Amino acid sequence: MQEKAILSVNGQEIELPIVQGTENEIAVDISKLRAQTGVVTIDRGYKNTGATFSGITFLDGEKGILRYRGYSIEDLTNKGDFLEVVYLLLFGELPNEEQYSKFFKDIKDQEIVHERLKKISDEFPSGAHPMGVLSSLVSALTAFHPNTLKPHASEEEAYLYMVKLIAKLPTIAAWTYRKHIGRPANYPCRSLDYTSNFLYMLNKMPNNEYTPNPIASKALNQLLILHADHEQNCSTSTVRMVGSSNASLYASISAGINALWGPLHGGANQAVIEMLESIKEDGGDVDKFIAKAKDKNDPFRLMGFGHRVYKNFDPRAKLIKQSADDVLSQLGIKDPVLDIAKKLEETALSDPYFIDRKLFPNVDFYSGIIYRALGIPTEMFTVMFAIGRLPGWIAQWKEMRETVEPIGRPRQIYTGEVARDFVEIKERDLVAQ
Ligand code: MLT
Repeated sequence: MQEKAILSVNGQEIELPIVQGTENEIAVDISKLRAQTGVVTIDRGYKNTGATFSGITFLDGEKGILRYRGYSIEDLTNKGDFLEVVYLLLFGELPNEEQYSKFFKDIKDQEIVHERLKKISDEFPSGAHPMGVLSSLVSALTAFHPNTLKPHASEEEAYLYMVKLIAKLPTIAAWTYRKHIGRPANYPCRSLDYTSNFLYMLNKMPNNEYTPNPIASKALNQLLILHADHEQNCSTSTVRMVGSSNASLYASISAGINALWGPLHGGANQAVIEMLESIKEDGGDVDKFIAKAKDKNDPFRLMGFGHRVYKNFDPRAKLIKQSADDVLSQLGIKDPVLDIAKKLEETALSDPYFIDRKLFPNVDFYSGIIYRALGIPTEMFTVMFAIGRLPGWIAQWKEMRETVEPIGRPRQIYTGEVARDFVEIKERDLVAQ
């Protein structure tokens, strides 16, 4: 492998180290560039810039590979349980039976949320978007667990406040939803596993027994695993950036929730369903909307297609599409929106316009269809993404702290006014604009 890169800039030639990862990815280390040359690089959106070294998730955008700590998402979704994957992301290895049962119990012990946090939740208007409520309540958790503010907690303290957040987020999310639909909150059920308990808290109505459907729990388990981490995406980079200032884990995760909320990121799954429903309301003519998507003068945009890093297909979409089929057929649900989604996908994947532009279904395209089948409303879809992504955010934050990453502080190229003198206000009208 070439050891150095040669850069010639401003009449100066310097050598820059080349680094290589365990999957043979190559990067030019420019950490000394400005000190040696006074020059910085520019890369808007950091699409060609590695922000860190990480041992958590590897993805290959060209080959459509996604692995957590070396395990493929195909294996993890087909053979694993979400809490096993959470443990793997946080600690680097799959748990053995003893480790798993302790982790499971530690989480069950922490699912209850302080009643005063529920009172805060109750004060939000019922129409508030669940993501805004979720980020507010996660930040508010700091007030109930002030020890999480310590920048250098012990291993035991750090373990406890990570477990608290993993345990409490579904409870907070379910309370947010129940408030949104004007129904009384449900408290966690000790006898249910992580995904069944979440469905229970979302759906149990007063005076009715509620037993989560195992098909729904299995599908949710798979969806949460598929969303668990995705290397340095927008919300994870936000969590790392906020955490790099020694802000608490809960403050960092609250920031990550807000970054995920955007329709260009986690909000895309909500936007996909809204798009499919609008096509259905318009009469379901997929070809009409394919033509609109191609028309530069038409504001209609196809949501859920293409990806910043996957160049041929999103491996998660393949798994979720199969799951959508299984869940709807096992639950006996005929969803016209799924039929529209499939027709849209088939048309797009056979049309050179979309093939040439690498516009293939991504993770958001089918996930909303499963959430609908599980009875989860559209405005909760991004909250589901946040629950899935939480272990990835925590693992990346933990890695950033353990590797003592410096505070994030990118540079810029200034393009504003050059130096000019201050003019007294009474003189300003006289100065030529
Ligand atoms: C994600 O899973 O975070 C999304 O695919 C976005 C991304 O990776 O950029």
